[in-house]
Amino acid sequence: MWKKFNNLKKIADTGIVLIIRLDSEQEALAVAEAAVKGGIKALEITMSVPNALHVIQTLAEKYREEGVLVGAGTILDAETARAAILAGAELLVSPQLNPEMIKMANRYQAVTISGAFTPTEVLETLEAGADIVKLFPAEVLGPQYVKSVTAPLSQAPIAPTGGVTPQNVHEWLQAGCIGVGVGSYITKAAQKDGDYSKVTAAAKEFLEAVAAARS
Ligand code: 3PG
Repeated sequence: MWKKFNNLKKIADTGIVLIIRLDSEQEALAVAEAAVKGGIKALEITMSVPNALHVIQTLAEKYREEGVLVGAGTILDAETARAAILAGAELLVSPQLNPEMIKMANRYQAVTISGAFTPTEVLETLEAGADIVKLFPAEVLGPQYVKSVTAPLSQAPIAPTGGVTPQNVHEWLQAGCIGVGVGSYITKAAQKDGDYSKVTAAAKEFLEAVAAARS
């Protein structure tokens, strides 16, 4: 139980889960390392990354002692959830409500972030036992949606994903989000020239934007 509490705290403290959805295992590992150097404490390796389970296992072993939460994303069924947990994932993320994933995660006390779009889905996500509601795809809803939906559902811990940047993250946090899911702004920062110090810089910039919005 304390492990889960500490893992949730890593997300709460930094306010960012970094979503690594890239086309190669090597790039995913390089981006993860550069982002952690920049201060990222929660990583979501999507199952669409080639050899995703191996990437998860490598990162989980590498960062176990360093206070970095390693997770798996785009989990669509219980089988994949269990495989990810066995590889070392302590965070499971799905783009939609998948009660079997949440049940499996809760069996092993992994943190869950589960996708929702409508108020009904937000409530069903909480009832299914998820820790955090992933508002997805967030860019088509906007921060005002969070204000509106959390008027009646103020208990919902919402983290938007899709289109969140350092420039707009304050709007999401001020609307009541507990944190955000971030992908391309950080993970694609080195795409043009392979300079991974740009990933580190983008991670720092994002973390500073979250801290500024919270202060
Ligand atoms: C994903 O699952 O890849 C997310 O939707 C990423 O969104 P972003 O790249 O716009 O941050």
